[in-house]
Amino acid sequence: MSDITDNTPENPLNKKQRISETESVEDTSKQQHPDQDAASDLHHHPRRQPHIHHTEEGMMPQKRFYRCRAHCNPLSHNDIFEYPTHPNLMNWSDHFPILKHEDHNHQQQNSPSPDVLDIGCGFGGLTVALATLLPTKRILGIEIRPKVAEFVRLRILACRKDNPGLYDNCSVLRNNTMKYMPNFFHKASLEKIFICFPDPHFKRKNFPRRIVSERLLSEYAYFLKPTGLLYLITDVKDLHEWHLEKCRSHPMFHELTQKELDADPCVQVMYSETEEGKKVERSKGNKYYAVFQRISNEDMQKKSETFQPDTFWHMGEFGVSMTSASE
Ligand SMILES: C[S@@+](CC[C@H](N)C(=O)[O-])C[C@H]1O[C@@H](n2cnc3c(N)ncnc32)[C@H](O)[C@@H]1O
Repeated sequence: MSDITDNTPENPLNKKQRISETESVEDTSKQQHPDQDAASDLHHHPRRQPHIHHTEEGMMPQKRFYRCRAHCNPLSHNDIFEYPTHPNLMNWSDHFPILKHEDHNHQQQNSPSPDVLDIGCGFGGLTVALATLLPTKRILGIEIRPKVAEFVRLRILACRKDNPGLYDNCSVLRNNTMKYMPNFFHKASLEKIFICFPDPHFKRKNFPRRIVSERLLSEYAYFLKPTGLLYLITDVKDLHEWHLEKCRSHPMFHELTQKELDADPCVQVMYSETEEGKKVERSKGNKYYAVFQRISNEDMQKKSETFQPDTFWHMGEFGVSMTSASE
């Protein structure tokens, strides 16, 4: 495992690296042909050799060439991911070309880190929309599926080429946020985290794969600045209720009111700009959302007096055995 990730939009080697990663991820998970998805696009003929599509950097990629299996197991152990051994070793300046409107805090840092994360960014609709909505912030989409992350990388390069200076503040990282966030981010470094239309993992035995859990909320609280915001949206009502239950019972978060949500332009963008959100709109489905604020340090002190550790952890957290649970 190398000490530092180098899968930046600018790095021409990454395309090659990512394509070989695609093959290794998909090979190990199901012993299937590495291009099975592409092959199935080709009129479901299993033996036909799929056309390997390469998008030239600077050209807008086409989604149909970057589709792949909907899920991969974020808990599986493997050596696929590259990550720095400490956030200090991460060179973010390769991800974010110098911004025109540097803010004061960023000027003080050698390698300015992201302010906003789009966790599980998928095809990157929200990541690029936030880049223009929040031009002074650094937006990072993180995506576990290599082909999809490659799509976002090319999408951002194309946006930058067509709109010089406008998308220098967004980037994408191919990684697993359920495992490696502590390697990339410092405590209290993030202003906002978006988790949009996360995989619902309906079966009870797969609940530990959900990207909102007590344990991960504690991580998100650790990485968010005091009063930083966690945005959640889904079209699955049960999952929304799970989000509400986990966040409302977490001592480090408090829920924003509907009035506060209505006043936040990020909520509107989260509602309308993700690819999954657009799909839900086309099928006339419902969207359920909520925003939770990481409490201030003073409130943290007050809350610690009423915190009940005995009822905080549930089955499925930290790999607690699920053998007694039915699916
Ligand atoms: C249903 S899609 C939603 C994509 C996007 N947020 C949207 O709304 O269009 C969920 C995405 O999260 C990604 N994902 C799941 N687990 C992840 C993890 N542990 N780290 C990073 N990305 C993850 C999946 O690969 C998938 O692209």
